[in-house]
Amino acid sequence: MEKEKKILYSGMQATATLQLGNYLGALKNWVNLCDEYDCFFGIMDLHSLTVRQNPAEFRQNARKLYALYVAAGLDPEKNCIYYQSHVSGHAELGWILDCFTYMGELNRMTQFKDKSAKHADNINAGLYTYPVLMAADILLYQADVVPVGADQKQHLEITRDIATRFNNIYGDVFTIPEPYIGKTGARIMSLQDPTKKMSKSDENINSTILLLDDRDSIIRKFKKAVTDSEAIVRYGDDKPGISNLMNIYSTITGKTNEEIEREFEGRGYGDFKLAVGECVADELAPIQKRYEELMADKAYLNNCIKENADKARYFSNKTLRKVQKKVGLTEQIR
Ligand code: TRP
Repeated sequence: MEKEKKILYSGMQATATLQLGNYLGALKNWVNLCDEYDCFFGIMDLHSLTVRQNPAEFRQNARKLYALYVAAGLDPEKNCIYYQSHVSGHAELGWILDCFTYMGELNRMTQFKDKSAKHADNINAGLYTYPVLMAADILLYQADVVPVGADQKQHLEITRDIATRFNNIYGDVFTIPEPYIGKTGARIMSLQDPTKKMSKSDENINSTILLLDDRDSIIRKFKKAVTDSEAIVRYGDDKPGISNLMNIYSTITGKTNEEIEREFEGRGYGDFKLAVGECVADELAPIQKRYEELMADKAYLNNCIKENADKARYFSNKTLRKVQKKVGLTEQIR
């Protein structure tokens, strides 16, 4: 019999208008891992409620994100792509795990500190217990690996701590998940300030390539990218702008830094920036086309959403029932 594949779990918040960093740092890696693992990809809409949302916009963004996941190459027939809020087990397990998490642990979370500083008028309890809900997401599916960016590593650590603590009391209930940190493309920086991460909320629109930007805008933004005055395409800590462009180019083309340096030897930054802009535009064009088709085909997308929520519910219920039983909650009479 064929050996069962390991389980991979990941997700993004539902608010993201995706930018190139989300794509190269997360989504594209996920697509590459799909054959090797049994994959669950959540759209983390409950997590998004930790920040006040405009309901109509929020709902629309969450739908767009689903379409973008699929357009980028995640397969709703092979992978499980679903909304966190469609599977009530996330909130239910989240509550139980709250009771196995110490305030001292949550107090140490750097994202909580950062977000509290940023949203000083709305430091809600959800923001505080955010990592526990994330632990529930991962543990419900018995995930072996979780691809996350560097900023989420601490959350994965606490997930492992909570799971280990629970297992020590009740036996082997949860798989202890490992982080999966992608090789390249993990950190795409702003085109205008290459010492800062690329972010969709950057005030300068030239800093960020949005996944749905048209070809002309993409090329124009790369042309304006901040570099340096050396005029040599070379990778190095002293050249954050060029190094960032090289990272982008290399992640898309698969070329190594040495190959890129050779390719652009004796040529100016103008040529290089154009090549990067064109390769990004070429990479995104089919995704954008597929995205438009998906957004136009309501019935197909709705059907994917429904079927995948059923799959996720079925799978996660097994873990949830086991947990409820272990902690001694009374079984439901059916
Ligand atoms: N906190 C993650 C982020 O902001 C999103 C997320 C929620 C997540 N639950 C998850 C990622 C479970 C991986 C696994 O990027």
